[in-house]
Amino acid sequence: MSDLSRLILDRIRDVPDYPQPGVLFKDITPLLADPEAFAAVTDAFAGLHEVDKVVGIEARGFILAAPVAYKARAGFVPVRKKGKLPSETLDAAYDLEYGSAVIEVHRDAFAPGERVLVVDDVLATGGTARATVELVRRAGAEVVAVAVLMELAFLKGRERLAGTELRPLVVV
Ligand code: PRP
Ligand code: MG
Repeated sequence: MSDLSRLILDRIRDVPDYPQPGVLFKDITPLLADPEAFAAVTDAFAGLHEVDKVVGIEARGFILAAPVAYKARAGFVPVRKKGKLPSETLDAAYDLEYGSAVIEVHRDAFAPGERVLVVDDVLATGGTARATVELVRRAGAEVVAVAVLMELAFLKGRERLAGTELRPLVVV
């Protein structure tokens, strides 16, 4: 296992039965609170590809994606839960490990053909990431990769992203 993988795994806290019974929540706040780990994760994401825009998925994806955009000298684009973006939007529905939801992006968030890195904390069932990829494409840009801190392999989210490069920093 790489030093980066160890650094990440040691700083993600498992919280059983949150937000509902049977779900093992991956809490990234210890990692965010550690300056070396946060910087190492940011650098790892920023070094993946040259891109025009970094997309962060509300809410935890925002925290990780914004410093990646800064480091990569790329723009930042928020994908938000329904009703939060003020201008004209595109939307996509998706199922979560717990519940379902709709996410949106501004229709004019990307110039045609822009290269985009999508960043989030966890890939679980892949529903969120897949809906985000669909939104970015419908908005006229190209998804170069989906980058996550942690892939939960047993939930098979990777299968829902077939055809899109998936870059997890750790796989559990
Ligand atoms: C969590 C997590 C990922 C998503 C992964 O977000 O941060 O975005 O679920 O699940 P999936 O692969 O099954 O779609 P959630 O919407 O629970 O909350 P957040 O607003 O705290 O990020
Ligand atoms: Mg999330």
